[in-house]
Amino acid sequence: MRYCIKGGKIIDPASGFYGIGDLLIAEGRIAAVGASGTVTIPSDTEIIDAQGMIVCPGFIDLHTHLREPGREDKETIASGTKAALKGGFTAVTAMANTTPVSDNAVVIKYILNQAQQEAAVKVYPVGAISKGLKGEELAEMGEVAAAGAIAFSDDGKTLMNPALLRTAIEYATLFDKPLLLHQEDPDLAGNGVMHEGYWSTVLGLPGIPDIAESTIVARDLEIAAYTKGKIHLCHISTKRSVELLRAAKAKGVKVTAEVTPHHLALTDELVQSFDSVYRVSPPLRSAEDVEAVRLALKDGTIDIIATDHAPHTLEEKHREFSLAPNGMIGLETALGVVWTELVKKGYLTDIQLVEAMSFKPARILNVPGGTLQVGAGADVVVFDPELEWELKASDIVSKSKNSPFIGRKFSGKVQHVWVDGKLKYFNENFTE
Ligand code: DOR
Ligand code: ZN
Ligand code: ZN
Repeated sequence: MRYCIKGGKIIDPASGFYGIGDLLIAEGRIAAVGASGTVTIPSDTEIIDAQGMIVCPGFIDLHTHLREPGREDKETIASGTKAALKGGFTAVTAMANTTPVSDNAVVIKYILNQAQQEAAVKVYPVGAISKGLKGEELAEMGEVAAAGAIAFSDDGKTLMNPALLRTAIEYATLFDKPLLLHQEDPDLAGNGVMHEGYWSTVLGLPGIPDIAESTIVARDLEIAAYTKGKIHLCHISTKRSVELLRAAKAKGVKVTAEVTPHHLALTDELVQSFDSVYRVSPPLRSAEDVEAVRLALKDGTIDIIATDHAPHTLEEKHREFSLAPNGMIGLETALGVVWTELVKKGYLTDIQLVEAMSFKPARILNVPGGTLQVGAGADVVVFDPELEWELKASDIVSKSKNSPFIGRKFSGKVQHVWVDGKLKYFNENFTE
């Protein structure tokens, strides 16, 4: 099947193409891209009018919890990737904190096999750094990489043994796979359930100080600098972390970092509702921290936006704030949140959005995608930047409904998505 996406604003950071034009998809690949009228359209091509829309490479989420195997009541590879498709993502990772933990070749192969049969988008499994996420002993990283893991992470837990982290960085460098590091000292976090500050004092809830994050950031940057290896910092949420990151980058430390849509859009003030939907790790921070991570994304100190999509059942979330699990879903709202809160408010340009959600995650993970160059696999998203919409619980396709954005209005909505040249989502509907 051939498609020509006509008259949209094409944004491709990889080639530098930026402007109104036509994009031709044939045999699963990008066949031609050019200014309006310059692309020859063969007969029997389906024409898709994209006037007023943005056409860009499919989003790539570097940080997704798909929960399979083990917690299929929260999410499955099928349901999580469907949510991803609806959000304009053509590839996601599968984080390693599954049951059993993804610390061996059998689990990695299971995920790849399930993905091949059921996934709506590409799935890249992440292997655990330590056996059982216990932080005591390294997993067999070589075997796990050979089985198909594209990165390593103990996410959900911080690797507290610095010697183990040093070795992990050295091995990851050897295998040329990124290390995705969760950033929170569990001792400093203690029994905290929200950000430590004005609101935790007012509400009388135990707090997690910002130093729980920044002390781990400082340690990880030091070890990365010493080993000359590469690290990626997950979900940076504080002003102090940003300052440390900025200084390390200036010195040439090989580090990349992500921020989540929720840490870009929400503050700790929301916890006054005591609604456990706002419970997340790291916690929602102060308005000052939110402003700092926004500016860090704008100036490139923070490289990418990643969702940390963390589905939990309503039964688990319908406990009091201090007993509910950490995490919120994010795949279906990422574009709306980022367009509304960052692009419309002047923090990011549309090109920077495509870089942060597609081009750069592909580079960090060292996977295909993030480009519309001729010959590349056709992972393409078309979205309407002006379309206004409101998130309703009944519209969520993820198995879990723990979104902090239900009832919020956004502009920016995904219209069509191609994965490897297959039109999988059209006019806001799944095609299969
Ligand atoms: O809020 C979070 N939820 N943060 C994490 O680091 C883990 C995640 C999960 O797996 O639920
Ligand atoms: Zn994490
Ligand atoms: Zn996570």
